[in-house]
Amino acid sequence: MSENIKIVIPEFGKPEVLDFVSEKIPEPQKGEVLVKVYFAGLNPIDVKTRAGLGWAAAQNKNNLPWTPGYDISGKIVSTGEDAQRFVEGDTVAGLIGFPLTAGGYSQYICVAEDDLSLVPDAVTLEAAAALPVAAQTAAQALSKAEVKAGDRVLILAGAGGVGHIAVQIAIAAQAEVYTTCSEANLDYLANLGAHAINYQFAAVSERLSDVDVLIDLIGGDVALDALKCLKDEARVITIPTITRDLICEKAEMLGFNASGILVEPSPEQLEAMLYMVGVGLLKVDVQPAISYKDVIEAHRRLETGHTRGKLVLDMRC
Ligand SMILES: NC(=O)c1ccc[n+]([C@@H]2O[C@H](COP(=O)([O-])OP(=O)(O)OC[C@H]3O[C@@H](n4cnc5c(N)ncnc54)[C@H](OP(=O)(O)O)[C@@H]3O)[C@@H](O)[C@H]2O)c1
Repeated sequence: MSENIKIVIPEFGKPEVLDFVSEKIPEPQKGEVLVKVYFAGLNPIDVKTRAGLGWAAAQNKNNLPWTPGYDISGKIVSTGEDAQRFVEGDTVAGLIGFPLTAGGYSQYICVAEDDLSLVPDAVTLEAAAALPVAAQTAAQALSKAEVKAGDRVLILAGAGGVGHIAVQIAIAAQAEVYTTCSEANLDYLANLGAHAINYQFAAVSERLSDVDVLIDLIGGDVALDALKCLKDEARVITIPTITRDLICEKAEMLGFNASGILVEPSPEQLEAMLYMVGVGLLKVDVQPAISYKDVIEAHRRLETGHTRGKLVLDMRC
């Protein structure tokens, strides 16, 4: 162990701007641990920030080069003063540095020990890196919507990172779950137990009505169309922040109870979700890991908006 390779955004732009830097491996400070990152999860916010869009880009525009990445899994290498929760070799995962600092696309990173969760043996480190942002967003959105047994829940984009977890949690809550996807994902989502609706065939508003809860993972015109599916006093949670105000305003004009969310990192919640994956109560669909050296290609894939489940970078050499 001699150097720490990190992926950086030196300037905002296309995937090709992504670059690598090599630096000294950091030393954990008081209350911190040094993690050797095995896998770093990718999220749409990474791509949007790289392109210079959204809040994280605005906040970091004078702070480039900047290392993206909020989801990590890996092993504890060493512990700083007063850090006692973990020992060397423990496997951990976390939602780190959200939303300002990030840094997960690194081979080594120092993290406050309280920000990490222990990964059970039954969970792969790929799955552990795929979970933090997506699973906590899904769980927090459904909790905010107070989804209960018998609710008719519409989840836009059920095949994506957040969507495929949200579908499973809503089904576990005994809701009647409807979700939109392309033809390629109809069977996939039906196998998760949802009523899958092909958005390529017709707008969802032409196919569904009397919905109690809308979980919007697309925003914009697609979300505005989905508002036509709702019954009186329905609840709307809109998750893409860029169109949040527009969707909330329109939904409220129509008499719905609408709000956005920004995921709140919770190591306890992540630990509970890792446990659920470990005992088979929750499936996390992770595509084969992509070498960190191919991060440009990984960003291109995510940017298509049509990846199924989650993408993770393998940060090891
Ligand atoms: N506010 C927050 O704290 C927060 C947290 C997490 C995520 N987010 C945001 O939430 C959104 C979803 O995140 P994610 O990680 O789930 O994204 P993702 O994994 O990139 O979503 C990809 C999925 O979207 C589906 N999709 C694309 N266009 C669609 C359409 N018109 N209708 C239905 N499905 C469509 C695709 O399915 P098909 O291939 O079948 O089309 C694909 O499987 C992003 O905007 C992200 O930035 C916000």
